Amino acid sequence: MSQITQRIILLCVLMLLSVHKMLAIHVNIINSLEDNLNLTVHCKSADNDLGVHVLHHRENFGWSFGVGVFKGTLFYCGFTWNGQLHWFNIFKKTDKETSDCTECEWHIFKSGPCRTLTSSTTSCFPWNKNK
Ligand SMILES: *[C@@H]1O[C@H](CO)[C@@H](O)[C@H](O)[C@H]1NC(C)=O
Repeated sequence: MSQITQRIILLCVLMLLSVHKMLAIHVNIINSLEDNLNLTVHCKSADNDLGVHVLHHRENFGWSFGVGVFKGTLFYCGFTWNGQLHWFNIFKKTDKETSDCTECEWHIFKSGPCRTLTSSTTSCFPWNKNK
């Protein structure tokens, strides 16, 4: 291998590593349901099923992932309490309102999920309409 080829390969590897690092996302979901209800969370993407997790009041469930530069990334979650199931797209790369974060913190209320923007502000969303 010529030296120039080696340098180009090294440069590509470094670029890939830095892109991956820049776009590492952490999502955290906190059970903030009223009445101390338990919350069952089941999140998935096209390639990953994160499994079923039961959160007691105030408990959290989180995971990390890398977002590809060209690939659309979507994680959607089912939230169940009192036998009612609701869905929400918790991270959708093409949707600025859910993907404008690297530390994405969500509080789950009966009325819908709220994302923490700063220590004192949150942005709340309705559940998905189609079940
Ligand atoms: C939540 O689940 C625990 C068991 O894991 C149970 O003891 C508790 O009563 C449940 N809370 C409610 C509000 O149903």
